[in-house]
Amino acid sequence: MSKSNHLADRIQQLQPSAIRELLKHSKMPGVISLAGGIPSGELFDKEGLAQATQSVLEESFGDAFQYGLTEGNVELREQLVGLCKARGITTSVDRLLITSGSQQALDLLIRSLANPGDVFVVERPTYLATLQILSLTEATVQSVGSDADGMIVDELEALLATTRIKAVYIVPTFGNPSGTTLSAERRQKLVKLAAKHDFVIIEDDPYGAISFNEERQKTLFQTAAEMGDHESVVYTSTFSKILAPGLRVGWIVLPEWMQQKVAIVKQATDLHANSFTQSLVAAYLKTERLDPQIALIREAYKQKCLALSKFLKAELDEHISFNQPQGGMFLWAQFRYEFDTTQWLQQTLEKGVVYVPGEFFFSDRADKKTLRFSYATATEEQLFEAVKRLKSAL
Ligand SMILES: Cc1ncc(COP(=O)(O)O)c(C=O)c1O
Repeated sequence: MSKSNHLADRIQQLQPSAIRELLKHSKMPGVISLAGGIPSGELFDKEGLAQATQSVLEESFGDAFQYGLTEGNVELREQLVGLCKARGITTSVDRLLITSGSQQALDLLIRSLANPGDVFVVERPTYLATLQILSLTEATVQSVGSDADGMIVDELEALLATTRIKAVYIVPTFGNPSGTTLSAERRQKLVKLAAKHDFVIIEDDPYGAISFNEERQKTLFQTAAEMGDHESVVYTSTFSKILAPGLRVGWIVLPEWMQQKVAIVKQATDLHANSFTQSLVAAYLKTERLDPQIALIREAYKQKCLALSKFLKAELDEHISFNQPQGGMFLWAQFRYEFDTTQWLQQTLEKGVVYVPGEFFFSDRADKKTLRFSYATATEEQLFEAVKRLKSAL
């Protein structure tokens, strides 16, 4: 007899990722994928990473292959204090925790905060893997709509009139999947609400550095700090999109009240993040190649994004609308009429192009006419061909 009923209730309820099933065929030869949320491997700084690897082997061999501190490599955290400062975030080494990517940061934070029944608010649509983390807790998920200016904070305020919430999870800059950026006004309002209604803001910022122009929104962390609030916002970011995701190096900037406990949760999870890749990132940052590398990525993604937008406008304007992304990796689009993009995927697959149907990014009230395109990995020729194929699948 199967012992599967021995699995914990919340684990038994887990479903395999529907996207994975749908996209199983996306690796078939000839298929152009606009689906994956992965950065372009062609842009990885091979030379810089090789140099940094060499210098780790020569200069930090002991640290790189030994157990390390749960909070993370001190040299890396010292450098991160500077990197955060350049992003407007004032912090110190002891407030920084190095994680295995920001995915782990989100897991540690949510597990540290969630009691059964606690309400976590996400955007509609939101980052799928955070919904997965939340489904592993016994927290309740509520969603708030978003538009071209990001989360509709007035909707959150309305929800707060009836509901006590524990935390808001938000990707405020070049969001995944929406590509949108929360306006300055909404940032201020969100931070004020957090203080007034005593909830935590989990600010997830993997894409903020990948801006297509010089305009910068202040992080929620900085916005709060400028209002004298040093408690409400916890910030996480990662080297995945600006250097390489395989390193699995991300970080959290913790408010003081979370600092010790989240480190204990991290310790119970995996003792510490990978020593070798932490040393490698520290060595890489010393070479001062990160800023030029980010500039390269920004320019390349900008051109790809402009190309995809242009082709979509030229070929599919009567069917599909979208907000022009100002940074990041994603273009979020919707059909101008009722449409089921999950069903359509079968047809586009036959024509040799895949995307992610929007419905998977909703915790509730899924909008089936939405879809997410990633322009990061395809070439301009492939983007052009992909749009032609989408048109022929209609
Ligand atoms: C919004 C968002 N948060 C977190 C992550 C996780 O990134 P990583 O764990 O590679 O740092 C991703 C990756 O796609 C993401 O899009």
